[in-house]
Amino acid sequence: MTMRPAVATALLLSTLASPVWAAGDAARGQSVFTRCTACHAVTEQNKVGPHLVGIIGRPAGSVPGARYSKALPAAGITWTEADLDAYLAAPAKRVPGTSMTVGLPNEQDRADVIAYLKTLPKP
Ligand code: HEC
Repeated sequence: MTMRPAVATALLLSTLASPVWAAGDAARGQSVFTRCTACHAVTEQNKVGPHLVGIIGRPAGSVPGARYSKALPAAGITWTEADLDAYLAAPAKRVPGTSMTVGLPNEQDRADVIAYLKTLPKP
């Protein structure tokens, strides 16, 4: 089947006009996660930060033996994708007093890394 250029362009544009909440790409998220591995493991092992196995649905600041700020366990969060997105965008804004200082300013990076975290096996 051949398409006239104008039709092909219109189809391409409609594909690019993605929703505001772009779906996360777990494969890409795995490479974004290399920015987290200095402090976080995806096996049940704590580093500078707590491990992130089963993070969705886990109460914030609840991994035994992890070194948390006072603020995070007191924040009363049970991690949802929306909470993770807000925390990763600006940790100290979502949880004032948190000891995690680095964030992920790019929305697509956040969506991708959250999609990746969702693929990790539950503990
Ligand atoms: C420089 C070290 C460092 C880096 C890099 C880092 N974090 Fe953290 N992260 C921490 C620390 C420390 C905490 C604990 C914060 C607290 O107790 O306030 C934390 C907490 C978290 C939590 C909450 C965990 C829980 O048990 O409630 C999540 C989720 C998280 N980080 C995700 C990420 C992701 C995703 C990245 C990569 C984009 C990342 N972090 C990069 C140090 C880091």
